[in-house]
Amino acid sequence: MSERLAGKATIVIGGARGIGEGVVDVLVREGASVMLADIRKDLADGVADRFGSKVTAVEADISRQGDMERIAALALERFGRIDILCQVAGIYPVKAIEDLPEEEWDRVLSVNLKGPFLAIRACMPQMKRQKYGRIVLTGSITGPLVSWPEHSAYAASKAGLVGLAKTVAIEGAAHNVTINVIEPGNVDTENVRRERGPGHVEFMSKAVPMGRLATPNDCGEAVAFLASDAASYITGTTLVLDGGQVLLEAKV
Ligand SMILES: NC(=O)c1ccc[n+]([C@@H]2O[C@H](COP(=O)([O-])OP(=O)(O)OC[C@H]3O[C@@H](n4cnc5c(N)ncnc54)[C@H](O)[C@@H]3O)[C@@H](O)[C@H]2O)c1
Repeated sequence: MSERLAGKATIVIGGARGIGEGVVDVLVREGASVMLADIRKDLADGVADRFGSKVTAVEADISRQGDMERIAALALERFGRIDILCQVAGIYPVKAIEDLPEEEWDRVLSVNLKGPFLAIRACMPQMKRQKYGRIVLTGSITGPLVSWPEHSAYAASKAGLVGLAKTVAIEGAAHNVTINVIEPGNVDTENVRRERGPGHVEFMSKAVPMGRLATPNDCGEAVAFLASDAASYITGTTLVLDGGQVLLEAKV
C-alpha cells in the first residue's frame, strides 16, 4: 500500500510518550517527516532515535507563545513548509471543583486550550500562504459528550477545543486548510495506568462494548486519516474513537 502522507512536513506537539508516540509511529509509517515538540526533551529524543532521520525532537511548551512561534519557524527552516500540525499534548489532573485552585484551572486551560490556539496561530500564516494545511487536535469524549466527577477544568478545555476548531475551520476553508478533532474514549497509556492506579484499565474495559481501551496507535490511525487526502473535504468536525463507549444507554 502506498504511503498516505509521503513527504508531508509535520509538527506533532506532545509526541514523546503515550498517544503522541502512537501518532508519531503511524504518521512516520505513512511517510511523514516529523518535528516532535514536547516539554520532555529526554523522552522526545528517545522517540526520535527510534525513527532515525524521519523524526527531529525539539523542546517546547505548548502553553508558551514564544515556543510555538519558534517551532513553526524551525519546521519552516527544516522542511520549507508546514503541511500537518497535530496537537496531542494535554494534562488531566483530578480534583473536585471546591478543591480546585484557580492556578490549577488556569494551567489546564493554558496547556489544553490556549496551547492549541497558540500552535495554530503560529502555523496558520504559512498554511494559508501555501494553500494547504491539515490540523488535527486531540480532544476527548470527556467534555463534549460525557464527563467524570473531578474533571471540570479538563472537560471544559476539551469542549472548548471543539469551538476553537469549528471557528478555525471556517477561517481556513478558502485556503485549503482543514482542522478536525479526534475524541478518544479511554486510551491505555503508561500515564493513565500510573495516574489512575491499578485496576483502572480492567475496570474501564468493562464500560466499553468492544471490551478494551484504545491503543495509542488507534489514535494515530484516526489522525493519519484526518491528515490524509482521503479527508480533504472534512473540516470542523470531530471523530470519536471510543469502542462504542458513549453509545450505551444503561451502564449497568
Ligand atoms: N489517555 C487517555 O485515556 C486519553 C483519552 C482522551 C484524550 N486524551 C488526550 O490525549 C492526549 C495525550 O494523553 P496521554 O494519555 O498520551 O498523556 P501523556 O501524559 O502520556 O502524554 C502527553 C505528552 O504531552 C507532553 N506534554 C504535556 N504538557 C506539555 C506541554 N505543556 N507542552 C508540550 N508537551 C507537553 C508530555 O510530556 C507527554 O509527552 C491529551 O491531550 C489527553 O487529554 C487522553
